[in-house]
Amino acid sequence: AKKILIDCDPGIDDALALGLAHGSPALEVVGVTTVGGNVELEHTTDNALRLRDFYGMDAPVARGAGRPLVREPRTAGEVHGNSGLGGAVLPAPKSELSGQHAVDFIIDALAASPGEISLTAVGPLTNIALALRKEPRITEWVKEFVIMGGSFTRGNTNPAAEFNIVADPEAAAVAFGAPWRTVMIGLDLTHQARASAEVRAGFADLGRLDAELLTPCLDFYGSHVSYQEKGPAIHDACAVAYVIDPGLFESVPARVDVETQGRFTSGMTVTDFAAPADAHNAIVPTELNTEGFWSLVTDAYRNVAAT
Ligand code: BDR
Ligand code: CA
Repeated sequence: AKKILIDCDPGIDDALALGLAHGSPALEVVGVTTVGGNVELEHTTDNALRLRDFYGMDAPVARGAGRPLVREPRTAGEVHGNSGLGGAVLPAPKSELSGQHAVDFIIDALAASPGEISLTAVGPLTNIALALRKEPRITEWVKEFVIMGGSFTRGNTNPAAEFNIVADPEAAAVAFGAPWRTVMIGLDLTHQARASAEVRAGFADLGRLDAELLTPCLDFYGSHVSYQEKGPAIHDACAVAYVIDPGLFESVPARVDVETQGRFTSGMTVTDFAAPADAHNAIVPTELNTEGFWSLVTDAYRNVAAT
């Protein structure tokens, strides 16, 4: 199986992405690192531990940065609920945290398995930027670097910027500036992955997984104004799906620069599809095979529910 390390801020769609990674026979989750984002670090970390227990995962959970590199923290409790998991109330964690800080965990994991780990970040990029500064060789050791973040058209937190990028634009600029090719799974892609009523009907026979996690999460997430029409976009699961099967995506190389100075546009991922090849620093998935995506997700959840 392909090794994946997931840096996240659970977060409803983060929780669903972890379930996809754990349930997919194609992946081995080697670690989960947490960052402040959708809710405060204390909650994202607690949620990661609860999800680890609930899913029955073996991977260590390591706590990371609670604040962005430069700016004041910004959260999205109105989308994810004050706890971060909508209406889901999972049992208090039995698992213990890794003794390592997320940044050291990421560096050590990549150093120990060079060329093998897909580093997948689905929250603000604070831990990734800190890891790059502490150990620049992670760009050589990683197999690939995949994020959920940004967009090549418009934002969701404001017209210009997507949440994970605007939450820590300086960190995102460090990540996109590093000598690797960032796979940018942005909003234009993730808005193709909606948990519609039809999709959710496929979760109905998943027992506890559905009753205790999926339904209370998706009922809350789907009630947000922006999601009422087509169902909530399960952003973060798209990044995990890319690691499992990039063939489900149409992807275009591009130059992506993160705006950090704009009065109205800080956090914008300025995407140039016309840039010369030697300027490319990103791969930008643009089209999702939606049916293939949902069958991957549903099959993985079936595996989780069966254990
Ligand atoms: C991203 O921001 C968070 O609210 C979600 O978890 C996702 O990672 C979408 O903009
Ligand atoms: Ca997230």
